[in-house]
Amino acid sequence: MKRQVLLISILCFGSVIGQVSYSIPEEMPKGSLVGNIAKDLGLDLKRVKAGKARLYTGDSAQFIELNKERGVLLIKEKIDREALCRHTTPCALHFQITLENPLELFPVTVEITDINDNAPVFQKDERIFEISESAAIGSKFMLEKAIDPDIGINGLQRYTLNPTDNFILKSHPQSDGSKKVEMILQKQLDREKQDHISLILTAEDGGEPQMTGTTQIHVTVLDVNDNAPVFSQAIYKAAITENSEKGTLVIKVAASDADSGVNGNVTYVVGNSMDPVSKLFYIARNGDVILDGPIDYEREKIFHLDIEAIDQGGLSDSSKIIIDVSDVNDNNPSVNMISTSDSVPENSALNTVIALMSVNDPDSENNGKVNCFMNENSPFNIKFTSNNFYSLVTDSELDRERASEYNITVTCSDEGVPSLSSCVTLTLQISDVNDNAPVFERSSYEAYIVENNTPGLSIFTVKATDADWNQNARVSYILEDSSVNGVPVSSYVSVSADSGVIHAVRSFDYEQIKDFQFRVKAQDGGSPPLSSNVTVKILIQDQNDNPPQVLYPVQTGGSVVAEMVPRSADVGYLVTKVVAVDVDSGQNAWLSYKLQKATDRALFEVGLQNGEIRTIRQVTDKDAVKQRLTVIVEDNGQPSRSATVIVNVAVADSFPEVLSEFTDFPHDKEYNDNLTFYLVLALAVVSFLFITCLVVIISVKIYRWRQSRILYHSSLPVIPYYPPRYSDTLGTGTLPHVYNYEVCRTTDSRKSDNKFGGAGSQNVLIMDPSSTGTMQRIQSEKSILDEPDSPLEFRDVNSLGRC
Ligand SMILES: *[C@@H]1O[C@H](CO)[C@@H](O)[C@H](O)[C@H]1NC(C)=O
Ligand SMILES: *[C@@H]1O[C@H](CO)[C@@H](O)[C@H](O)[C@H]1NC(C)=O
Ligand SMILES: *[C@@H]1O[C@H](CO)[C@@H](O)[C@H](O)[C@H]1NC(C)=O
Repeated sequence: MKRQVLLISILCFGSVIGQVSYSIPEEMPKGSLVGNIAKDLGLDLKRVKAGKARLYTGDSAQFIELNKERGVLLIKEKIDREALCRHTTPCALHFQITLENPLELFPVTVEITDINDNAPVFQKDERIFEISESAAIGSKFMLEKAIDPDIGINGLQRYTLNPTDNFILKSHPQSDGSKKVEMILQKQLDREKQDHISLILTAEDGGEPQMTGTTQIHVTVLDVNDNAPVFSQAIYKAAITENSEKGTLVIKVAASDADSGVNGNVTYVVGNSMDPVSKLFYIARNGDVILDGPIDYEREKIFHLDIEAIDQGGLSDSSKIIIDVSDVNDNNPSVNMISTSDSVPENSALNTVIALMSVNDPDSENNGKVNCFMNENSPFNIKFTSNNFYSLVTDSELDRERASEYNITVTCSDEGVPSLSSCVTLTLQISDVNDNAPVFERSSYEAYIVENNTPGLSIFTVKATDADWNQNARVSYILEDSSVNGVPVSSYVSVSADSGVIHAVRSFDYEQIKDFQFRVKAQDGGSPPLSSNVTVKILIQDQNDNPPQVLYPVQTGGSVVAEMVPRSADVGYLVTKVVAVDVDSGQNAWLSYKLQKATDRALFEVGLQNGEIRTIRQVTDKDAVKQRLTVIVEDNGQPSRSATVIVNVAVADSFPEVLSEFTDFPHDKEYNDNLTFYLVLALAVVSFLFITCLVVIISVKIYRWRQSRILYHSSLPVIPYYPPRYSDTLGTGTLPHVYNYEVCRTTDSRKSDNKFGGAGSQNVLIMDPSSTGTMQRIQSEKSILDEPDSPLEFRDVNSLGRC
């Protein structure tokens, strides 16, 4: 290099006389030799020294100095060509070497040559671009130039860009020699692939060694809404149970959008808003599909939901959600009575249809399977007829009398878990059929009625009940035809048809009839009617309505009958026996005998129970022949009734003695006083009648004696009794003129009766009766006997039962 520079300077020296030129590279270190100027100028070193040689640069800076000792030029200051000349070429230093004594001037030129001491330099280390991904191919982007102060080959030569995937570099030479550098898009940007590109721009010079400068280029790819959202699935499947709460998450959908920012900000929409289904769901911003309304499996079992994802750039994607609704047992079975009957007759046949009903449960599967049953112990059953139809039929016999009304409850429940049920109650009336006969309260009746009742008296009431209803239970009472003692029972009693009250039709006489019975029929109003009957027995109770009847001594009107007592009679001599009967019964017929009056009370006594008159002391001669005793016979009834009888006793040893005494047998004072005249008159008449009567009695007695001869042999005494005529005082009934009377005696009385019989046949005196007590009876007896129409019937003793 030095040699080359020297060669050039020599060459230059040779061509320019008196002028020396040197060429040196820049940046030579201080003290470096530029050239041997003395030699080149042909000057002696002495002359240089003597001439005080100097280097003159004028105003310019001195980069080179002169070494006078050696006569050479040396680098005084390091020379930077770029600073000295910039782009000017050639770059030279011009100065003079001056000598004194003599003054000589020698121009010197030192040319500074360039060396590659500068690298290309960019002003900034990096450059940032923001380029839309949609930028068109061929788009140009101006780049910064690099600067290299070196000149020539050492100056900036070219640029390179790395990498070159998307961009290429293009440089255009400029008129000033520099180059404009552009980056040209040669391949479409895609933010979604690469949203940032880093490039390095390198500037190179041509020096040796080559130097470079770099700058960083950052490209940010800006997003463009070039991607639509995309659903993760073409079809989503979801399931939800019906009746789920509002706000239940059904499914989560997702649509992705490769874009960023608002272009990738996806919102979801449930399809066609005209479709009411779309109102049931909404999709949240995060893709949650939320239930927003009621879901009823029975209305919709599956939903097809069109959904859409939209980014804010307006691009969208659609998908579908198929939502299966699962059933919940939320419906009670519905029971509908299609036809019902209000009532059925109690004699309905088995399997009579009462009602038809339909049962429905809109739920599915087991939730909709329905079973129906009824309340237990009811005589009905449910029969499955056909699809969802059931009939209610009778299952056993009905009886209105047991149950007239049924509340039939049909319960239907499904097989869901938990099971739901509903029920229907049907009120069914059982209508009556006349299947029950009236029933009397008792199997037989006995009633008592006291004799001498007023006709029309209600005796008592029979009652029958009928279990049926209404007309079928309306009971009428009917007296059944029968006869009592040959008389229709209807003349004894009547029965009130409505009330069952039994009335006496007539007044009863215990002495005639003691009891009777008949049947009463109870019949209901059904068609045909049913009936039953009952036996009613009426017992007639005795009243003390008959006074005792004195049978002996017979009180005759015309004559005086007297008992004979011999004066020799002992104490306790049986004078006679008063015999009386009472047709009443019981206490009413219980008779007692008392001595009411006596001529001599000390002489006689009467047996209280048996009526025997006995002496109680020895008869003396002083005792009067005529003794008159009044005996009263009383029954034990309440009140008691009585009869008196006068017993004449003759105390005498012979019959003539008696006769003489009895011709003026004194009359009883009571009846002898004022009425004597009338009595005598009456007695005369009565006596006549009495005698007639007596004749009749005797004839009858004879007749009866003949009839009962056999009985007579058995020595049983018979005391016939002729009752007074029964008089129907009220006249309401008609009585048959047939009387049956029984004469009842005790076995005890038989002995005394025998005595009486004996005594009666021998010692009876018939006296002229003046005692009216017995008169009246005799009169009435006589009137019966006189009655021509009275068919008197006296029951033969043989035919009588003994009490
Ligand atoms: C999407 O847009 C909504 C408003 O339209 C905003 O609230 C939300 O933050 C945005 N989301 C994103 C990820 O940018
Ligand atoms: C049926 O129901 C009605 C009304 O609830 C009630 O009055 C009646 O007593 C019931 N009948 C039966 C037999 O239970
Ligand atoms: C009365 O009832 C009985 C059964 O209690 C019956 O045998 C009889 O035939 C009935 N009599 C009449 C007349 O109906």
